[in-house]
Amino acid sequence: MTTEGGALRARLESLVEDALREFAAAQGAEAFEELRVRYLGRKGQVAALFADLAQASADERPELGQLLNAAKKRLTEELAACQSKQGGAADSSAAIDPTLPGRTSWRARPHIITQTIEEMKQIFREIGFSIALGPEVELDAFNFEALNFPANHPARDLQDTFYVDDDVLLRTQTSPMQVRLMQSQPPPVRVIVPGRVYRNEAIDASHAAEFYQLEGLYVDHQVSMVDLKATVAHFVRRMFGPKTSIRFKPHFFPFTEPSVDVDMKWEKTGEWLEIMGAGMVHPNVFRAAGYDPEQVTGFAFGMGVDRIAMLRHGIRDIRLLLENDVRFLEQF
Ligand code: PHE
Repeated sequence: MTTEGGALRARLESLVEDALREFAAAQGAEAFEELRVRYLGRKGQVAALFADLAQASADERPELGQLLNAAKKRLTEELAACQSKQGGAADSSAAIDPTLPGRTSWRARPHIITQTIEEMKQIFREIGFSIALGPEVELDAFNFEALNFPANHPARDLQDTFYVDDDVLLRTQTSPMQVRLMQSQPPPVRVIVPGRVYRNEAIDASHAAEFYQLEGLYVDHQVSMVDLKATVAHFVRRMFGPKTSIRFKPHFFPFTEPSVDVDMKWEKTGEWLEIMGAGMVHPNVFRAAGYDPEQVTGFAFGMGVDRIAMLRHGIRDIRLLLENDVRFLEQF
């Protein structure tokens, strides 16, 4: 046997001797675990010997390899035997603690808002709407100006927001995408825009400074209020059940004329709940987008996704949707 081969064999023998002595003396699960790692772990001493096998000469290697394998098997068995001998003695309760809670597996899933948006998209896709996304950091020009809110218009106060500078802000609504979309294509347009919006709100159970909207825009020749009502009714009935009633209330938005708030009847309590703003696209918005208001008409709506999700699932506090507490999220 060569010197390298001999040295390896000698190291193996003393390692086995040491290990067996330590196995026999060990006390408690932690000590056994420490020994297992030190001798038999991926970076343990037996593994180190396997690595050194490469230094032995080619004809010695098979024999030394067998010795190493046999030693590893023996140590594994001895370790288990020593441990179970001890486990069978006085303190067997230490091995298993039946009072610990079980380990349940945790399954990841989309956030409830994402799930709700997916459902809403599906309903609108079925009736021919395409889907677009827009920037959350938006120009004042699109968020307000082009939507017929002149500077200093009091309606801006209802949508106070976070300004980056005088011209750039976090969008307060998904409506700026109406203008962006019309500018980028000729009519007809039939599209929805889901996305996050921001407002400088005093936060409470029903107000958050960031929330989600889903905008809808349908522009073509002779689109009327009837189309708006039919579209909204179809959506609400697919989302909340075929008998759900809706009603329109007159309202004001600078970028629609006439404008309405849409309520739906919540069957469980008989209450009317507001779910969106809507109306016929204002001629000034068509002009800002480069469309001729004599040629086309259209409707737009904007609904609160959070509101829809909360209604559907009986969630009473909008803040829960932002906290990302797994105990809440895993219920959906
Ligand atoms: N953007 C309006 C809001 O956030 C909702 C709306 C959208 C109203 C489209 C009319 C048309 O309050």
